[in-house]
Amino acid sequence: MGEQNYSHLIDLNDYPVEWWNKVISLGASMYAHPQRYVQACAGKIMATLFYEPSTRTQMSFQSAMIRLGGSIIGFDNPMSSSVSKGENIKDTTKVVSTYSDILIIRHPLAGTAKAAALTAECPVVNAGDGGHLHPTQTLTDLLTLRMEKGRLDHLTVGLCGDLLYGRTVHSLCKALSCYEGNKFVLISTPELQVPDYITKLLRDSGCEYRTESSLDDAIGELDVLYMTRIQRERFLSEADYLAQKDVYRLTTEKMKRAKKDLAVLHPLPRVDEIEIAVDDDPRALYFKQAQYGMYVRMALILRLLESEKPVPLLRGECRNDLRCVNKKCITAQEHYLPHQFTEECGRTVCEFCEERALQI
Ligand code: NCD
Repeated sequence: MGEQNYSHLIDLNDYPVEWWNKVISLGASMYAHPQRYVQACAGKIMATLFYEPSTRTQMSFQSAMIRLGGSIIGFDNPMSSSVSKGENIKDTTKVVSTYSDILIIRHPLAGTAKAAALTAECPVVNAGDGGHLHPTQTLTDLLTLRMEKGRLDHLTVGLCGDLLYGRTVHSLCKALSCYEGNKFVLISTPELQVPDYITKLLRDSGCEYRTESSLDDAIGELDVLYMTRIQRERFLSEADYLAQKDVYRLTTEKMKRAKKDLAVLHPLPRVDEIEIAVDDDPRALYFKQAQYGMYVRMALILRLLESEKPVPLLRGECRNDLRCVNKKCITAQEHYLPHQFTEECGRTVCEFCEERALQI
């Protein structure tokens, strides 16, 4: 376990910024000239293992592979696979990766894509691991900003809604903190603020950021507003979710106070956090953003299949005296996984989900 022969995408920050920039540029080129790539993956097979619901991520990956001339297999309901018989991630991944050339996985537990990559015999892409990360949504967001704002630096970015459980927010903060001069306004209730490791990362990277409870107060200063859905499925109780669900709503009225060139992004699906009438505002870019996602995923598939130099999956050490505190980490469910921990921003954290370690 742990030998790395393939380039996986588990966390964008495993790669240098130049690598993301190349993927984004390739995505832009595919957007402009899709016909040039229609045979680029001919004869290749992509497997999609979706243990959680998805519309855009799954279909944009599938459409991306088909547009590259490749084929697709997979499931979107694990209960129709041997998962329903109790099969673990290791065995499912091991076998499916021998049927395919690239494997895309989404799972409700943090760290699952990394766990899958440990045994896979092909590149693995994290299509969302619980409330942790969603790197291909971030590639989507970056391509959207590059195309629509013309830059990825010196932006004042407001992130609004569920910053605690929203994995798209975590990946986007990690990525944008690597470009110069970006400033973050973290708009949420006290209960749904970003996890500690994100705040530490912003602080350590020297980015300007502040927490804010009012969207009305912040909207006028933003270049980008990243709205998010309250992640109902990740709350411990329905009552906790109900207390949060209608706090933020972007309306045409609020848009009047925003800059003329604000970019409104949302990973979708939307529930009630953006009034439907906002869709007609040219600053509402979320549907375009979903379309860019397909092109950037085409670029990513091609890049990973070109078998470039793999990046290491595990960098820390196996510590049998420690456990991860996160009950929603894959290590809490799949006990054969190594107890891998690493030092991050001066703390010992689980290498699968980035949450704190607990001495046992
Ligand atoms: C997001 C996700 O799954 O994290 N959706 C997506 O992939 N575009 C956001 C969400 O579900 O709210």
